[in-house]
Amino acid sequence: MSITTDVIQKDQQFSVPVAGRPEFVLARGEGATVFDEDGKAYTDWVAGIAVNSLGYGDKELMDVVAKQMRTGLIHVSGLYHTKALADLAELLCEVSFADKAYFCNSGAEANEGALKFARKLAYVNDHKNKTKVVSFSKAFHGRTLGALSVTPTEKYQTPFKPMVPGAVVGEFDSIDSAREVIDEDTVAVIVEPIQGEGGINLASAEFLQALRQLCDERGAALIFDEIQCGLGRTGELWAHSFSGVTPDIMTLAKPLAGGLPIGAILVTDEVASAMQPGDHGSTFSGGAVVMRAGEMVVKRVLSAGFLEHVKEVGDYLLERLEEINSPHIVDVRGRGLMAAIELNVPPADIVAQGYEHGLLLVNSGPSAIRFIPPLIIEKRHVDELIDKLTTILEGIDGDG
Ligand SMILES: Cc1ncc(COP(=O)(O)O)c(C=O)c1O
Repeated sequence: MSITTDVIQKDQQFSVPVAGRPEFVLARGEGATVFDEDGKAYTDWVAGIAVNSLGYGDKELMDVVAKQMRTGLIHVSGLYHTKALADLAELLCEVSFADKAYFCNSGAEANEGALKFARKLAYVNDHKNKTKVVSFSKAFHGRTLGALSVTPTEKYQTPFKPMVPGAVVGEFDSIDSAREVIDEDTVAVIVEPIQGEGGINLASAEFLQALRQLCDERGAALIFDEIQCGLGRTGELWAHSFSGVTPDIMTLAKPLAGGLPIGAILVTDEVASAMQPGDHGSTFSGGAVVMRAGEMVVKRVLSAGFLEHVKEVGDYLLERLEEINSPHIVDVRGRGLMAAIELNVPPADIVAQGYEHGLLLVNSGPSAIRFIPPLIIEKRHVDELIDKLTTILEGIDGDG
């Protein structure tokens, strides 16, 4: 039996079936390319869902992780200091609006914590009326119960109801709607500056500015979820930077530790001052190996030319996607290396054909394919993508 057949059989027998995986088995990666057990190459436009921003096999990342491993300290728990944690917290505060950082293990966990932090701030200020959390249509904030409660997709929520009470949904990028839903009882407003799972939808600067103003007027904490769009993906360090607005809380995860599991909650001093020892925690919070990986990734993203590269290749990607002349593409949108094509045919068909052509692709919402590759991807990969996508789209019957 081949390794591929064996792995797929085992997976079907022993894994909880929450993911529909394609019929190949990934074995290794190099740069922006992964290879399956049969040696077939796939150019990666997914990056482990916007995680592997340095691509595969980055030597410096592997060395940093190995070096920390060799100290013997992989994990010490939040009970003790490590230099690795202090260094990453300091670095993230230096390069963002934040005064303090808290580390956890995933995006959903970061958002759970952010919601708790906001509630605690209201609690210490004796605002007992503040029980509402505002999120927006098509948002995705994670699949744990608190994060799911502010992820207003019926399909994700229905089997797991009841949700955490107090969730209120406004229309994404509508200032009028935000004005209606954010009131004196609102404890927090959570928003992705660019929605990732919901279709690569860009919040306007005016919308983010209006949220800031409404939160200030009505005493709510503003949470930016930059788990997918943050840390260089847009060609700026933060996806919200263009708006000139800063949040009270920002959550990070996916790319921060180069593929190792991490989440971070960045906050102002005001938010941090509401938290006391024992209010929040997690056994694996701030593990030394993960912290060292995070420090290295942030420094790389800030190194000379890195963000310029993202911007240049991102602009080229959008330009070339717009050039595809297909009746099946109804919209092209994005910023930096976070782009999407909206289709009038099922994205799953294109994703499946992508595999045949040696491309890893992923949908975004029900009708779009998104492009969230390693940030080191190059223009030649864009050219390959456009050639292959054009061929795939030409092979699709009908005019949509
Ligand atoms: C914007 C956003 N927030 C939160 C999450 C949840 O992150 P995780 O899957 O690490 O729990 C995701 C994951 O896709 C996301 O894109």
